[in-house]
Amino acid sequence: MKKILALLAAAALVATTFAFAGCEKKVEDADANVDGEAVEGEVEGEVAEGEDKEAVEDEENAATEDEKEEEKEDETVAEDEGKLVMATNAYFQPYEYFEGDKIVGIDVEIAEAIAEKLGLELVIDDMEFNSIIAAVQSGAADMGVAGMTVTEERLESVDFSYSYANGVQSIIVAEGSAITTVDDLYAEGADYQVGVQLATTGDIYSTDDFGEENVTRYSNGSEAVLALQGGDIDCVIIDNEPAKALVAANEGLVILETSYADEDYAICVKKGNTELLDKINVAIEELTAEGKIEEIVAKYIK
Ligand code: ARG
Repeated sequence: MKKILALLAAAALVATTFAFAGCEKKVEDADANVDGEAVEGEVEGEVAEGEDKEAVEDEENAATEDEKEEEKEDETVAEDEGKLVMATNAYFQPYEYFEGDKIVGIDVEIAEAIAEKLGLELVIDDMEFNSIIAAVQSGAADMGVAGMTVTEERLESVDFSYSYANGVQSIIVAEGSAITTVDDLYAEGADYQVGVQLATTGDIYSTDDFGEENVTRYSNGSEAVLALQGGDIDCVIIDNEPAKALVAANEGLVILETSYADEDYAICVKKGNTELLDKINVAIEELTAEGKIEEIVAKYIK
């Protein structure tokens, strides 16, 4: 009996080792695919098989050089290229939004000020809000700056800088709505459809509170507001400043006086990238002391 158990344990160990190796490989491949270089290197290595030995060795050396080069790049993406890539979702006025074909806003100006202090050029990469953390994790972007709330769950995937702003989750309803305070949403027998931007804290909290079946997710706040105007949903839960901008730009909507949640906004970086995180934190401290952050905020929030 004992022997069978031992055998089973050994088998399990082998299985996990394999599974783990499989996992690691996938991660490597995903990394390699980002810029395609390593993939090319591998393919070339295979083709070289069977050719004379010297050529093969040359190829291999070249591949190793490539890999080394790439590892170095991975460690300090920003400094190597002189660029600081910011992942954001530019449908979040006044933090980030399009003015013509230019992305402007509080986050953009703060990020620009940070990049300047670091001697780097800011590059803005606009994407779905839902993709920002993955972009930072993969190294496709150096940091996520998107009015992003610090949450316990996100802290498991990324590191956050010092907070540079406070956020409040507000509730937008149509004028004359039966929903007049946040408590109405929790009332006995209440069955409202809440609209949110996918993967935001509005989405996470309201799904927790009101259940999956009562939450409709949209790609951005404007789409949610359009659905509210069309009567598809009963309210939109979204950060207060974007809520104000949306209500100002759309007829027949109001923001409830009672808010839904209070939060802190911060910049996220790849987990363990303390080198960049420290620099960002120093920059935030300096910009705060210089009154620069306040100045930027005052420009957009009257
Ligand atoms: N503060 C909310 C969150 O972190 C919403 C942020 C949405 N930001 C944006 N750029 N669309 O989940």
